[in-house]
Amino acid sequence: MDREQLLYEGKAKKIFRTDDPEVVRVKYKDDATAFNGEKKGSISGKGELNNRISAFIFEYLGKQGIPHHFVRFLSPKEQLVKHVTILPVEVVVRNRAAGSIVKRLGLQEGQSFPRPVVEFYYKNDDLGDPLINEDHVAFLDLASQEQIRGMRQMALKVNRLLTALMIEKGVDLIDFKLEFGVDQEGKLLLADEISPDTCRFWDHQTGQKLDKDRFRRDLGEVEHAYQEIWNRLGGEKHV
Ligand code: TMP
Ligand code: ASP
Repeated sequence: MDREQLLYEGKAKKIFRTDDPEVVRVKYKDDATAFNGEKKGSISGKGELNNRISAFIFEYLGKQGIPHHFVRFLSPKEQLVKHVTILPVEVVVRNRAAGSIVKRLGLQEGQSFPRPVVEFYYKNDDLGDPLINEDHVAFLDLASQEQIRGMRQMALKVNRLLTALMIEKGVDLIDFKLEFGVDQEGKLLLADEISPDTCRFWDHQTGQKLDKDRFRRDLGEVEHAYQEIWNRLGGEKHV
């Protein structure tokens, strides 16, 4: 039955049709990839943890006024979300230097930026998701001017809200990636997932990495990092 309903399969999730054309079912996988799919693996328990963590964060952001696609939690690895058209743009917000910006600009890992740095990437596997600017987004027709403004504004608001949420749990939000979708009415909604796959989380006290960099860089204790983020958010008590 699942096979007939499958709409799309990505690296970390599968999207299925439901009886309601405006709602799809997302099933989170344990599969993990890095470096545009070059490195492949599996992180046991990741699907369930990311499903729970992402549901928790979207509910939190929704209560704080961020329009989003999340509808409801369905089962340990599944959630229902609004059927949206994903804009082919990844929006990254950085508070401190890590990952690609360290290499690109020759920075010191961990160095703070005076204000958040917003970046746009073209979601295109064949091109390896290149960094682009707002003029590129416009001429490639990836989003309208209004959508570009909306994405930037929402990304900065998510940064403020998520930084505040995580610091209460003793976690520093280093950077993260967002994706946006457009619903049937043309409304811009925060979409995809927000999880240790898509954020860099460092323990505030020790600086320990509690995210997918443990997989990307073979640091070990990968499952533990995802579990730790879920525990800090309140764990099983929430869902
Ligand atoms: P980067 O430093 O590799 O550019 O990553 C910036 C942030 O975006 C980091 O929190 C990880 C996240 N990210 C994704 O969610 N998906 C991706 O494909 C990449 C490259 C990064
Ligand atoms: N998930 C991405 C990929 O495999 C990369 C990453 O998260 O580092 O393309």
